[in-house]
Amino acid sequence: MVKEMRSVVNPFSPLKHNNVIIKFAVSFLLVGLAFHLLVSDSFTFSSVVETPVPANEETEPESLVASLPAEEPLSNDFAANESQTSQPGKCDLFVGDWIPDPSGPFYTNQSCLQIEGHQNCMKNGRPDSGYLHWRWNPRGCSLPRFNPKKFFRLMRNKSWAFIGDSISRNHVQSLLCTLSQVEQAVEVYHDEEYRSKIWRFPSHNFTLSVIWTPFLIKADIFEDMNGVSSSEIQLHLDKLDKKWTDQYRNLDYAIIAGGKWFLKTAIYHENNVVTGCHYCPGQNLTELGFDYAYRKALQLIFYFITNSDHKALAFFRTTTPDHFENGEWFSGGTCNRKVPFKEDEVGMIDVDTIMHNIELEEFEKATALGPEKGVALKLLDTTRLSLLRPDGHPGPYRQFQPFAEDKNAQVQNDCLHWCLPGPIDSWNDLVMEMIVNGGIYQ
Ligand SMILES: *[C@@H]1O[C@H](CO)[C@@H](O)[C@H](O)[C@H]1NC(C)=O
Ligand SMILES: *[C@@H]1O[C@H](CO)[C@@H](O)[C@H](O)[C@H]1NC(C)=O
Ligand SMILES: *[C@@H]1O[C@H](CO)[C@@H](O)[C@H](O)[C@H]1NC(C)=O
Ligand SMILES: *[C@@H]1O[C@H](CO)[C@@H](O)[C@H](O)[C@H]1NC(C)=O
Ligand SMILES: *[C@@H]1O[C@H](CO)[C@@H](O)[C@H](O)[C@H]1NC(C)=O
Repeated sequence: MVKEMRSVVNPFSPLKHNNVIIKFAVSFLLVGLAFHLLVSDSFTFSSVVETPVPANEETEPESLVASLPAEEPLSNDFAANESQTSQPGKCDLFVGDWIPDPSGPFYTNQSCLQIEGHQNCMKNGRPDSGYLHWRWNPRGCSLPRFNPKKFFRLMRNKSWAFIGDSISRNHVQSLLCTLSQVEQAVEVYHDEEYRSKIWRFPSHNFTLSVIWTPFLIKADIFEDMNGVSSSEIQLHLDKLDKKWTDQYRNLDYAIIAGGKWFLKTAIYHENNVVTGCHYCPGQNLTELGFDYAYRKALQLIFYFITNSDHKALAFFRTTTPDHFENGEWFSGGTCNRKVPFKEDEVGMIDVDTIMHNIELEEFEKATALGPEKGVALKLLDTTRLSLLRPDGHPGPYRQFQPFAEDKNAQVQNDCLHWCLPGPIDSWNDLVMEMIVNGGIYQ
């Protein structure tokens, strides 16, 4: 069990051993604000603008990779293995390095109209652009760039959903932006808060959706759109959220993710009885710890997927680290770095390590019997590679031109979500590779 601890040690000290920090009492607040400030109606959509379409269907995306200089100024010698093709089962896609990539992103703030305002770093005036010129390079195998034409071909008549919190929305927008370079999406549904949406790509008969369910299990949430809570979250550890399970039968593919919301204060229910809580001082309840609830939730989710008679291909995406330095989200924390970390330059903070370990353990258990049962559950383990990208967050540029009037203005930083374009685009390279070649967890 994990108890709350407080500390002010900088989690990003190069020395891993200095990392005895837990942003516990504060982290539940962090997510409250960070997530909720970003739940705005600014996620607008237009389907009328023409966008450039790559000229040659087959070769265009690959040629971006092929056109890389043979000798890049790499800080390691893994480039020697770059021309290797992936061998399913042999390559761990999630162990590698970020290497310079002069080709840059597939889309910009001009060519993609679906970028949420708070993640539109280019438009908001982020002055540097170096963070756009890196790509994830797994050790010992190559990772081709996402190929939207090929993706559409594979996805004809299919439907795909991103299921989770605002990071899942961040992720779906990355995919939308890339796909919209080939065909514009048509939004066919949104909920009242613009948090769940469905898009159609008519010429490819492909349906993409995002389902907002931050806990994935049944939760009564009493927060307004600004993250101000009027009562504790009531979390039912033995019931899944029907919002996504009711849709599951209609899906061919799903990317499911959770995590950060479990850090919030919540009262835990099992069998309709209150069994404890997480971070509820002053109430006569047993502190069970977020890890207890997160593990229960994952067990329920994985059980549902592996025992469903509907055979979708489900990815579970692991927790995403934040990069607040010199403070927290509410105390002036920032993320001003301009380049990725190298492998040994950063250690994971304790909450992320705890979550990630639970994810790996429960995934392992759930898939132990997988192949015999025909279970298609894959782990999209983006935690570590994302940890290496402190440079990929909006920081102060979650707002439009934050320093236009006062260059010393104090502004809220977002060091949790990712700029679009940005490092999160590489998550889709990994997804594509896992669909096409299987990847390590096939
Ligand atoms: C895109 O960003 C640039 C600055 O990088 C800005 O000048 C331009 O107005 C933005 N365009 C849109 C459509 O947001
Ligand atoms: C290249 O890949 C092979 C296995 O595929 C591995 O043994 C070797 O260490 C790799 N070389 C580098 C420089 O990563
Ligand atoms: C898509 O559905 C149409 C109509 O049912 C069918 O004719 C076509 O073969 C399907 N294509 C693929 C790739 O499944
Ligand atoms: C589109 O895909 C659905 C299955 O998802 C299929 O039933 C339908 O016939 C397809 N439509 C066309 C025009 O291919
Ligand atoms: C706390 O709960 C326990 C068991 O439910 C009960 O015995 C005890 O009296 C309660 N304490 C207070 C201060 O309410």
